[in-house]
Amino acid sequence: SGKPIVILGVFVADTAYRADRQPRMGETILGNSFKLGPGGKGSNQAVAAGKLGADVTFLTRLGVDPFADMAMQTWAQAGVKNAVIDTPESYTGAAYIFVEETTGNNAIIVSPGAAMLISPADIEANAGLIGGAGVFVTQLEQPIDAALRALEIARGAGVTTILNPAPAATLPDRIYTLCDYLTPNETEAGELTGIKVSSIDDARRAADSLLAKGVGTVVVTLGEKGALLHTAHRSDHVGVVNAGPVVETTGAGDAFNGGLAAALSRGVEPLQAVRFASAVAGISVTRPGTAPSMPTLQEVEALLASL
Ligand code: RIB
Ligand code: NA
Repeated sequence: SGKPIVILGVFVADTAYRADRQPRMGETILGNSFKLGPGGKGSNQAVAAGKLGADVTFLTRLGVDPFADMAMQTWAQAGVKNAVIDTPESYTGAAYIFVEETTGNNAIIVSPGAAMLISPADIEANAGLIGGAGVFVTQLEQPIDAALRALEIARGAGVTTILNPAPAATLPDRIYTLCDYLTPNETEAGELTGIKVSSIDDARRAADSLLAKGVGTVVVTLGEKGALLHTAHRSDHVGVVNAGPVVETTGAGDAFNGGLAAALSRGVEPLQAVRFASAVAGISVTRPGTAPSMPTLQEVEALLASL
């Protein structure tokens, strides 16, 4: 199962509404369906890595409420260990997810609740866990000062670090120098660099500017255009791995990041790891939901073998 992976991030309950369009302000429309399920970028990534057979521990804060129970059940089913700090003074978060029926595209409001209280002191208290990992992963749904402290500890201990800069935020300069891997999507790459990313060439220019800030390897995910693996020495475009008709793209980035972490934890070289991650994401978009759509290792290997 490879070296241990530690993921810092957020769990929320995803409340997904499918409808033909979004309501305008002041308007009420009828939806086509509703589904409640486990979500949150960090937790989705942990579930993806866990289902792929990785040894993964998820670090977060949860309220003491039914959504926290959903989190525990989700992780148990995916084989994900957890380091949860119970936070009864707050609540386990939720996300409003609008899914456009015709395209499977989404628009999201995420309210992290208890996870907004994750502090640098929480990270210090888990320094041994983080420093003992082979791969450390985080995102930007919880406070950035906590992500920064965790990346410092991981880097100091020689752990491979992955920052998935989602959702896009303004980052302190120092954080880039702590990232072995930075994995923005097109929007995030654009917001971090000021370079609008709509083509593979744009992604290369944005990635160059992120390398200049001190990132080791930039992986830009490009939706239906695949992904770009970019370092000072090489730049490889990896096409999308098609696993069938697209049902819902929510969580595809999380599938990718969980897959990337799982592959790197097994010592897979970067280009193969990005191909593997693309296959994980490729399967996830053919199924509804975020965490529930993550594939098993067998499914990913079968897909890659069929190409
Ligand atoms: O990346 C998808 C996730 O982002 C969803 O599960 C939702 O919870 C939001 O946090
Ligand atoms: Na999905």
